[in-house]
Order: sequence, then C-alpha cells, then structure tokens
Amino acid sequence: MSIQDNFRLAMRSYIYSVSVLSNKDNFGNCNAITVSSVTSISMEPPSLLVCINKDSKIHDRLQIDSDFCINLLTKDQETISNVCSSEAMHDQRFNDPRWNIESVPYLTNAQANIFCKVDKLISYHTHSIVIAHVTKSTSKDKINTLTYVDGSYA
Ligand SMILES: Cc1cc2nc3c(=O)[nH]c(=O)nc-3n(C[C@H](O)[C@H](O)[C@H](O)COP(=O)(O)O)c2cc1C
Repeated sequence: MSIQDNFRLAMRSYIYSVSVLSNKDNFGNCNAITVSSVTSISMEPPSLLVCINKDSKIHDRLQIDSDFCINLLTKDQETISNVCSSEAMHDQRFNDPRWNIESVPYLTNAQANIFCKVDKLISYHTHSIVIAHVTKSTSKDKINTLTYVDGSYA
C-alpha cells in the first residue's frame, strides 16, 4: 500500500469530534461545512485552527477579519453533519429551524458555539489552515458530543 493509503488508515482510527463551521459572507449568504479538524491553539490569546479544503465552497468566503462560528454537534445532530458534508444537499444546509441566522449563523442547540474572527490563512497544498481568535464561546453542561471514527459516527 502507498504511504497515503497507510496514512489514511491510521487517521481513520482517530476519534474525531464533529463540528459545523458556519459564516455569512460579504453578499449576505450563509455558508456551512462539516469539519473534524478543529484544534485549540492557545488561551492567550484564545485561538483555534481548522483546516479547510480549497475545493470546498466556503473556502474563498473565509477572509481575514471575517467572522465564523464553530458549532460542536451533539449525538442527535448527525443529520446536520450529513447535510453539511454533502454536495447533493447543499441547498438544505440552513433548513433546520435551530439555526439563528440574524448575524453570524449558529446552531442554537449545539453542544458548544465558538465564535471566531479569522486572523491568519496559511495555504498548504490542497488545504488552508485557518487560524482564528475566539471572540465568544458557550457550551452545554452535559456532554453529548457527536463523534466520528473509522468512517462512521460513533
Ligand atoms: C466527519 C467529517 C469531517 C470532515 N472534516 C472536514 C474538515 O476538517 N475540513 C474540510 O475541508 N472538509 C471536511 N469534511 C468534508 C466536507 O464536509 C465536505 O467535503 C463538504 O461537502 C464540503 O463542502 P461543500 O460541499 O460546500 O463544498 C468532513 C466531512 C465529514 C463527514
């Protein structure tokens, strides 16, 4: 097997938390994408990174100083994860009534909402690493996070 095949297999055995990154672009359009690559960087300043494929529709809509929200999903939000990771269901991404889209779109029933402002964009081959300042964060007391391992929800 190739290095890539072996690497893919190794990465499939990680247990990921599933989030949806959402934003509103300069044209007022809401965008959302399912992501598992969210990692905190530091507390001073409060910051995180997320890796975004350059082929995704949201990629060019993540500009320096623009706002987005990381919505950490709960176990009963598998459908939202599927909708936000399927090209075929692109027009259904904001159908769920739990979206608040007044300003930066966010899921009102998420496990956590982490509001961010893009600080740096680092291009790396197929992906951009988005580094962001955390501007506000809320989370539910009872942990019920949606996880993903070996290509399935766990
Ligand atoms: C569990 C899961 C995690 C994902 N994590 C990422 C990620 O971290 N970064 C990324 O660019 N795509 C990730 N994807 C793939 C995108 O969600 C998917 O390609 C999406 O359809 C791209 O958005 P678009 O259809 O609007 O272009 C993930 C998909 C799933 C199911």
